[in-house]
Amino acid sequence: IPEHVAVIMDGNGRWAKKRALNRLKGHKAGIEAVRETIRCASDLGVRYLTIYSFSTENWKRPQEEVVGLMDLFAKTMLAEVDGLHEENVRVRTIGDLSALPAETREAFEEAWLKTRGNTGMTLVVAVNYGSRQEILHAAEACVRRALATAAEGGDPTAPLTEAEFAQGLYTADIPDPEVVIRTSGEMRLSNYLLWQVAYSEFVSTMSRSPCYASLQANGPRWLCCPPPPRYARVSSTTCCAPMRSCQTRCSASWRRRCIRSACISSGCRARLWSALCCCWRLSCGMCSGCAPVSPMWASASSARRIA
Ligand code: IPE
Ligand code: IPE
Ligand code: MG
Repeated sequence: IPEHVAVIMDGNGRWAKKRALNRLKGHKAGIEAVRETIRCASDLGVRYLTIYSFSTENWKRPQEEVVGLMDLFAKTMLAEVDGLHEENVRVRTIGDLSALPAETREAFEEAWLKTRGNTGMTLVVAVNYGSRQEILHAAEACVRRALATAAEGGDPTAPLTEAEFAQGLYTADIPDPEVVIRTSGEMRLSNYLLWQVAYSEFVSTMSRSPCYASLQANGPRWLCCPPPPRYARVSSTTCCAPMRSCQTRCSASWRRRCIRSACISSGCRARLWSALCCCWRLSCGMCSGCAPVSPMWASASSARRIA
């Protein structure tokens, strides 16, 4: 299981357009996909889930949409924080919160205050986040450090390491994501975590829900065994060896229906596959314990999960 999964939840507008709805309705419906993604990742044992909610460029959208989104963020955070707290999830943000309306900023701050002592998954909400802006801030921090060094009589031109530079990023205390998932078929990063994803796997999915779609597109490969970042070296590692049983991680009651000995004995891929299918109430196709059976991805029942 990757330690850190970063998601670009895209396609709300197209979802709404397809249904002749206002874009804000698409954003509201998108909250459900976010909720399921959080639950799925937390059940699987992902340590950090970063969700791109609003970019520094998204201010260019029509004012009505921006105001509606800010209101939606505030209301959603207030409504969800108790549930997240019960799930032992820690909520934090990356981005410039100072530009947000007071209600929205306070909702995020309260969520952080309430959940900061939790020990489960960290949900990182990227809000008013822009990677170029973040890198500029980190560069400014380096200049300030160099000036301070010079003032103390040190050498301000001493070489800077990547690790030192990364200390100036919002994500200074978070490991780089192993996987970036963008929903709705787009292949761009849109100014998201440009420094941090230098060696991440990129998964683009057609659906609005990364959990479901990642299964559809890649099976559990990237979640169970994301290729270890090679950082341009040659590597012979193909699979993660130490993997805790999904049984201990996927706490949802559906799991019990789905994880049968047949799945477990087939190795970590099968276990994860069944756990994920179970989270999504789909057939894993590997045991007799979960219905419905095939066709898995094209059926009307599973299609309700997509777009
Ligand atoms: C992503 O969905 C959500 C936010 C940017 C807040 P979009 O609103 O970008 O949806 P599309 O890309 O227009 O379909
Ligand atoms: C990126 O999506 C930002 C979020 C998902 C919050 P956009 O839809 O705004 O990005 P572009 O404009 O398609 O690149
Ligand atoms: Mg978009």
